[in-house]
Amino acid sequence: MQTRHAIQIEGLTIVYTSRKQSYTAVHDLSLQVTDGETVGFLGANGAGKTTTIKMLLHFITPTRGRAWLYGVPCEQPRARQKVGYMPEQPYFPRYLTPRELLAAHAALAGVPAHETKYRVELALELARADHFAHRPIGKLSKGMTQRVALAQALVGNPQLLILDEPASGLDPVSRVEMRNVLQVLKEQGKTIFLSSHHLGEVELICDRVAIIHQGRLLAFGAPDELTQQTDRYVIIAEKVNADVERTLRSLCSNVRRDGFQVVAVTHQEQVYEVTHLLAKAQAHLISLVQQRETLEEAFLRIVQSAPVTTFADKAA
Ligand SMILES: Nc1ncnc2c1ncn2[C@@H]1O[C@H](COP(=O)(O)OP(=O)(O)OP(=O)(O)O)[C@@H](O)[C@H]1O
Ligand SMILES: [Mg+2]
Repeated sequence: MQTRHAIQIEGLTIVYTSRKQSYTAVHDLSLQVTDGETVGFLGANGAGKTTTIKMLLHFITPTRGRAWLYGVPCEQPRARQKVGYMPEQPYFPRYLTPRELLAAHAALAGVPAHETKYRVELALELARADHFAHRPIGKLSKGMTQRVALAQALVGNPQLLILDEPASGLDPVSRVEMRNVLQVLKEQGKTIFLSSHHLGEVELICDRVAIIHQGRLLAFGAPDELTQQTDRYVIIAEKVNADVERTLRSLCSNVRRDGFQVVAVTHQEQVYEVTHLLAKAQAHLISLVQQRETLEEAFLRIVQSAPVTTFADKAA
């Protein structure tokens, strides 16, 4: 087993059985995350993200397959020594303050007593949870509790962060802050494995993205590898008079004025007509760029083109 992988998963499968029915929540999942990488784990509700994370942390035992964290089989407690985990639904004692909670988690993570105060304050500050660290957790909002959960994951200064929907419940400003925090951790060389439904954020921060659908891995690669060129072109032009702009609106979508410029999106079949129109009217074509799919569009394409799995397949 090579140890350069922060996470190595081979053939991980879990079959839940209740009464006479069985359900394969994760099916033959294999992937590797290299040390220092930021990997997004994407999938619809019920796709198997949290179940996979729980198997990685050995909260639940797979039916088949194995996983290693830094080369240590995940069923061994020492596999979790380098891991900071942020759960999907954090439950903390309501009467503790974030500062008290983090001190307890620092002790669990093996932080020496003389370093605890420093580590706790650092984690609170990094997770932007320092300004309410003296209030009981039971009195904090959902987004504030999310930040406490992140601080809890950071307090032991782990090399590998496993974050299950870290941006869940955060307002747009807090989401950007969360992304900035992850960027800082990434620049520190940490490995980050995060599940998320915020594909725009994932696209900005992740080196690679794994897409899971009905328990099966459909795609794993850099956002640039997963997205394709579309048949849409973005046109930017100057010196576009009102008549030409009107014609442009019939040939293009999203036509808008931006200062001296007109920006428009058109389909491949109309590109010649649009450029010809601009040239004839002596408008200046500044740029003509083919649009790539967003990660969200690629995700939808990949998931929607996946073979339909019947319940019988799922139990296989
Ligand atoms: N203990 C369990 N017993 C039976 N089925 C379970 C159990 N835990 C999870 N499942 C099922 O496994 C599937 C995957 O669930 P999981 O929580 O991993 O999804 P997820 O990808 O994390 O979804 P979400 O985005 O909603 O968090 C779901 O169909 C879920 O109902
Ligand atoms: Mg989940």
